[in-house]
Amino acid sequence: MEGPLPTWGILTVMERPDLANLYRQAETDRLGFWAEQANRLYWHEPFTQTLDWTQAPVARWFADGKINACFNALDRHVLAGNGERVALLFEGEPGDTKSFTYADLLTETKRAANALLALGIRSGDRVALYMPMIPETVIAILACARIGAVHSVVFGGFSADSLRTRIDDAQAKLVITSDGGYRKGKAHPLKDAVDHALSAGNCPSIENVLVVKRTGMDVAWNEKDTWWTDALSTADTEHVAEGFDAEHPLFILYTSGTTGKPKGILHTTGGYLTGVSYTHRTVFDLKPESDVYWCTADVGWITGHSYVVYGPLANGATQVIYEGTPDIPTFERWWQIIEKYKVSIFYTAPTAIRTFMKIGKEIVSGKDLSSLRILGSVGEPINPEAWLWYHEVIGNSRCEIVDTWWQTETGSIMISPIPFAFKTKPGSTQRPLPGINTSIVDEDGTPVVQTDSGSAAGYLTIDEPWPSMLRGIWGDPERFIETYWSRFPGKYLAGDGARYDRDGDIWLLGRIDDVINVSGHRLSTAEIESALVEHHWVAEAAVVGAKDEVTEQAIVAFVILRQDEIADAPDEETIGKILRTWVTEKIGAIARPRQIMVVTELPKTRSGKIMRRLLRDVAEGRPIGDVTTLADSSVMTAINDKLSAGAND
Ligand code: WT7
Repeated sequence: MEGPLPTWGILTVMERPDLANLYRQAETDRLGFWAEQANRLYWHEPFTQTLDWTQAPVARWFADGKINACFNALDRHVLAGNGERVALLFEGEPGDTKSFTYADLLTETKRAANALLALGIRSGDRVALYMPMIPETVIAILACARIGAVHSVVFGGFSADSLRTRIDDAQAKLVITSDGGYRKGKAHPLKDAVDHALSAGNCPSIENVLVVKRTGMDVAWNEKDTWWTDALSTADTEHVAEGFDAEHPLFILYTSGTTGKPKGILHTTGGYLTGVSYTHRTVFDLKPESDVYWCTADVGWITGHSYVVYGPLANGATQVIYEGTPDIPTFERWWQIIEKYKVSIFYTAPTAIRTFMKIGKEIVSGKDLSSLRILGSVGEPINPEAWLWYHEVIGNSRCEIVDTWWQTETGSIMISPIPFAFKTKPGSTQRPLPGINTSIVDEDGTPVVQTDSGSAAGYLTIDEPWPSMLRGIWGDPERFIETYWSRFPGKYLAGDGARYDRDGDIWLLGRIDDVINVSGHRLSTAEIESALVEHHWVAEAAVVGAKDEVTEQAIVAFVILRQDEIADAPDEETIGKILRTWVTEKIGAIARPRQIMVVTELPKTRSGKIMRRLLRDVAEGRPIGDVTTLADSSVMTAINDKLSAGAND
């Protein structure tokens, strides 16, 4: 390695020479390395060219090869004699269970593929999915991939309006939905929202609606509707998968950008599948014959696409999928599931960990979690406090933790420790994976200088194309270039701040717009939150920069207290003072919050991200903005009422 980073030498102390070789090989022959990863998949026709970057920033990977993502996820394992291996262990929220071997899943998926063909769906057509976390969702996704249809999964927590805009943007021909799904102890309707989205002649591109019966709840029935079971029961169980061009679109997934309109992130087949299978195998140290893997993400998000559907199945893994929320009937549910299925690899989000911390470690008492060996984290920076709790309470201080940084746009994990490669570090996502080249640059695009005490914070960029990178924003090529490629030409702008520590390990600092500037000093909201959460009273914290005439921005922190520690906490004014001093001690006077507000909930999106924009509105005394994407919009009313009742500073 050239450049300012001195510490790749740490590889020499790794316990696993095979991993050292992986890093070395990727460094010396990056494209050869990726070709080798791609060749672990089954290609209907082999590729001869690894990367075509002549149309940058739209990459073409393995472009003259032909491949079928569904064949790789299912047929290949059955043909290799692993048809009897369990693919899915489904646990419904009410406690019903179902398991599918690879052979079962293949039969069902072939049937579903034939059913889609019978409804007139052809290669390249878009199919919207609006589903709960049930096996049919996985089957429907794979059936689309099998026939070359482009799926666009819309998270079941989104409203009818959001569904409508996404259907229109993608011009989908078919929606696959279910009557409802179980969430929070209740049957939660889904088809109803589809009916709303399609009402009054809206979504004219939709020709048919396929409806899975999950809950048996009443549904209105329209002309375009067909029951999933009716469509499948008449469908043939034979279907031969053809190979599609490697750059054939696989799916669109909408994600929020800085503007109001969601971006339809486009992923294609060969490169995406290469990225997800390689990272899933490597980052989770997967042993498909013996591991039981569980990723708690909903299929409505990229984590569900890459690490519930395509990665694990392409690798022949056995995995758990769970329909509901972690608190039904009690917060012990997840740990019961781990015990029951002997889960060995577990992948979840820091927000979940912090929720469990808030409840207290009793939730795992009496559970046998000894099957666990790898614990993953994704979605936001994991503060050292939560990392340690995860490590000690869930992992019994003997599991490897992988903090994985990536995005909807990157398709697969970009930065993460690899188990047993390095000594992990609470709160740091550490190194780009072999094959991935990142840097951290300043305002001018110059890489930040690494010193003995670490580096300054800067913008995280990805400097070379990678197979699972997005190929564009559906229908908006200009926005693609503008958003990701215009700030630092030739480099992909991730939108996250980051810095190196003295060892050259990477610490993510939150989105660029969450980086705050106080008196000319750049601070990360995540860093202050982490300091707050280190205090034993604090379960969760959200920090925003509020406009300030003197210092440009001032720090306002919102904290939730830990129920199990609350008894010894003094009144709120004293808590505020003590925590402000605490942060001063942890980070420095510059990071001292102007104000600390004790709250009982934080405003979160349905995917669990804290909506700092709304907290900034409160902190700056503005009327609260759009709350429609909140999981629970009453949270903001409670916070606002509390603020008008008087603050501590
Ligand atoms: C943003 C992407 C990747 C799947 C889930 C989210 C943040 C994600 C980490 C991590 C710090 C992280 C970043 C990124 N993020 N993982 N391990 N450490 N931040 O996908 O909705 O596309 O969000 O999530 O800010 O840009 P997404």
